Amino acid sequence: MCGIFAYAGPDNCTKVIIDGLKSLEYRGYDSWGIALKTRTSIELKKNIGKVSEIGELKSIKAKAGIGHTRWATHGNVSVENSHPHTDSDKRIYVVHNGIIENVDELKDYVHGDLFYSKTDTEIIPKLIARFLQESTFPEAVKKVVSLLKGNFAFVALDRDSNYLIAARNGSPIVAALNDGNFYISSDLQSLVHYSDKAFFINDGEMVIFNLANTSIEFYDFFNRKSIQKEAQLYDIQFADCERGNYKHFMLKEIFEQPRQLQKTYAVNVSDFDIRFHYALDPEMFKNLRRIVIIACGTSWHAGLVAEYWLESLVKIPVEVEYASEFRYRNPVISDDTLVIAISQSGETADTIAGIKEAKQSGAPVLSICNVPGSTITRISDATLFTQAGPEIGVASTKAFTTQLEVLFLLTLYLARFKQKIGTKDIINYLKNLAEIPEKMERVLAQTDQIVSIMETHYAVSNALFLGRGVNYPIALEGALKLKEISYIHAEGYPAAEMKHGPIALIDRNMPTVFICIRDQSYEKVLSNIQEVKARNGIVIAVANDNDRRITKLADHVIFIPETIVELSPFLTVVPLQMLAYYIADKRECDIDKPRNLAKSVTVE
Ligand code: AGP
Repeated sequence: MCGIFAYAGPDNCTKVIIDGLKSLEYRGYDSWGIALKTRTSIELKKNIGKVSEIGELKSIKAKAGIGHTRWATHGNVSVENSHPHTDSDKRIYVVHNGIIENVDELKDYVHGDLFYSKTDTEIIPKLIARFLQESTFPEAVKKVVSLLKGNFAFVALDRDSNYLIAARNGSPIVAALNDGNFYISSDLQSLVHYSDKAFFINDGEMVIFNLANTSIEFYDFFNRKSIQKEAQLYDIQFADCERGNYKHFMLKEIFEQPRQLQKTYAVNVSDFDIRFHYALDPEMFKNLRRIVIIACGTSWHAGLVAEYWLESLVKIPVEVEYASEFRYRNPVISDDTLVIAISQSGETADTIAGIKEAKQSGAPVLSICNVPGSTITRISDATLFTQAGPEIGVASTKAFTTQLEVLFLLTLYLARFKQKIGTKDIINYLKNLAEIPEKMERVLAQTDQIVSIMETHYAVSNALFLGRGVNYPIALEGALKLKEISYIHAEGYPAAEMKHGPIALIDRNMPTVFICIRDQSYEKVLSNIQEVKARNGIVIAVANDNDRRITKLADHVIFIPETIVELSPFLTVVPLQMLAYYIADKRECDIDKPRNLAKSVTVE
């Protein structure tokens, strides 16, 4: 997604903004730009490709500036379409994240203006310039935001006044002010170097910073009134946002999973009893008869795992929906339906829209999220936070397993609330959950075995991932990990489904990854493996320690420790994350920033 970073203050403006844009690179982008306000002018530089402090930028002495990394939505990847955009007199400069939906009607306000780009954003500086004819810069921006329709977060810089202004409706921005240094960014973790407090800007709010006296004003443009805001402390450590000795953030985050699971467990469980860090109001569940889970991508896979848990332990019907489908489907929900929204970033546009759809129908919404202060946490009725720490790699790993942990704790909580299980069962489940991090460490120690599998199969063009029961979603997740970072076409299926089509794909060039643990479907999966081998297929199996039978059948086996079947996804997913990582690394892919992908899909 696009990234916005702006700064005003006495520091080296160019360096602060370039560093800020680099910290936003993980969001995905294809071009970038920066506008720097000097004493007499605004210097503009835009480029395709990676952010770099290029040439003459170094010598510019600026007191304020705005920067942008663009992930193309309207208009192709080009210098003209990259941000910042400006008006005809080159007075107002704007960077924007989101989509303005009523550009054509707004062009009536700026008759005769020439548009040099194909973007929706360019209308914003032109409109501001139009209203400057009879207003101050802040007043002109207030008029413009009342006209815009669609998702936006933008920052505007004025050549002729001392204001730096940001406005938000739907796309995220946060601000910080520290000893006369003012920062605006698309996300919190890019501010970790500068301030431990931030102003969370909500939809319908503007922040107006005055460079002359470093004063800051907040304005609610929905209700047309000034408001007060307090900067809030946030818990992101500098080290969390650094790669350390790891080659990629994704590898670091794969190996951080045991620690983050322990942290998530520790803040939500004490003395083998569930005490959520953010207490839930039981009122939310008083009419509970049905659950609908909405999410996208990997978070949707976490929802599919939770479906098995919730239905078997809480004994109520659960549906798992792609948020993008749910929001347009006129779903049948009411106040007896708990909607659970799962999102690492808390900014996924489709999931946000799904939540709004659910709330309109009167359903209580509980979100599972990794980013405090994000939009989803602020529009949900309650949020349970994963303690994964900042997840920088586009491919979600530690967020996924901590989502599973919170979802499992929620399952136990609801099962007890609905009096379906007793304290003894809960203690037993929690004891097994508490053992997962150590068992996961043992899986992570198998790098050599996974690398040797990679060496044999990294050049394949297709792959199949098969699992059953609570590990069918893990087959989907394994396929998504491989495809999104190595660009190999991969599909996940229920193992039993193979005979209904996918078996036609089997040949000596197609590896099939089976999740084959000792559960109720073990014998059936063994048969599926034999069916693949009978057709000269290649089999990579994830199996339990000391499984002698699987070694006779599969070409490669990655062993994982035993655990209760319900918790096996925590362990079966890790070899698949590692296999995807090492294959993508061998193929020299841009693992942390895969092509065309964004860490947070804040547009529809
Ligand atoms: C997962 O590896 C992908 N990066 C993607 O599918 C992601 O899970 C999806 O976009 C949802 O993001 P969210 O959890 O931040 O809502």
